Amino acid sequence: MRKTLPGLIALAAASTLALTACSSDRVDNPATDSTTGSTASGTELCIPEGSTIGVSLPQKTSENWVLAEQLFNDGLTAAGFEPIVQFGNSGVTEQQNQIDAMVEAGAKVIVVGAIDGSQLGTQLEAAKATGATVIAYDRLVKNTEAVDAYIAFDNYQVGVLQGTALLEGLAERVGDGPYNIELIAGSSDDANAMPFFEGAMSILQPKIDDGTLTVVSGQTTFEQVATQGWKAENAQKRMDTVLSGFYAGDVALDGILSPNDTLARAALVAVAQAGKVTPVITGQDSEVESVKSIVAGEQYSTIYKDTRELVAQTIASIVELQNCGEIPINDTEQYDNGVKIVPAFLLTPKIVTQANAAEVYANDDTLGPLTAG
Ligand code: BGC
Repeated sequence: MRKTLPGLIALAAASTLALTACSSDRVDNPATDSTTGSTASGTELCIPEGSTIGVSLPQKTSENWVLAEQLFNDGLTAAGFEPIVQFGNSGVTEQQNQIDAMVEAGAKVIVVGAIDGSQLGTQLEAAKATGATVIAYDRLVKNTEAVDAYIAFDNYQVGVLQGTALLEGLAERVGDGPYNIELIAGSSDDANAMPFFEGAMSILQPKIDDGTLTVVSGQTTFEQVATQGWKAENAQKRMDTVLSGFYAGDVALDGILSPNDTLARAALVAVAQAGKVTPVITGQDSEVESVKSIVAGEQYSTIYKDTRELVAQTIASIVELQNCGEIPINDTEQYDNGVKIVPAFLLTPKIVTQANAAEVYANDDTLGPLTAG
């Protein structure tokens, strides 16, 4: 069974208190008897017990979002709130309408995992006008003042870990270089896709420059390698085209940078159909099928971003607001959304390969048995 939510919330609250205590950038907690005041960031204080909390999630493009839905519903209810948790399955307009409806319903906090981080300004400004607090969850909200905090795993670091894993995997499984590789990035409307890519390229670009890595297709810019909507079929189609165009005959494809597990599995389908040897390939999200594949020695790596931890941190922040406190922050520099630096609480992602999978997932029963079958 999963860890209980109250337990996780207590854990997150304890860790945030510690961070609050040593964060010199933060404004001190204001008076605890205030019911209407705001913090420096405009956050409403002392949200009433039993408040409605809106959680607006994007499409179910990876398993972490599906798990988040359940964890938010259970955790917010357990903490005494009234959750409204919705997916914007059909796209940006649906997500905009859902946020409007949450505001109409009197939500005191809007938690938003944006489909398109640049398209929610109007809705979130309306939310702020009612005094609600806006928390960007996992994905940054861009080009608006109307966001109080960002709670996420460190996206740039995810990319750094992916780039590093690709190099290590190539040395381990292919032997000495030079190596032929291809790059895949996430969806350009998702604010996370660029930091993932930039983090990875901070490691890979020097190796492309010194000739250790060759991107045989020549497709190295974000625009060339992005995958619209994080859709598996789009990644597979692009890989099909790249393989037939650039890897005819016995040209080997040694490695693929993939930003997440869904796209990694799609790329591996294209590689198998082209009759090529399985390349070293990265991923992210610790999805069940990919974890099995890693344990079986196929997919090389994934990233563990424990959704339970991210949701617990978010709920603990909302509980802080109910207690007349502030949202805990541990980064005030990295996330410039175009009009402001959004104060962030960043959690630490972990790289997972066959070598450490059992250890990393030892306490996560959401994954089930680690071996295929
Ligand atoms: C999340 C990733 C996920 C992707 C597709 C991103 O914003 O951070 O974990 O793989 O969305 O759902």
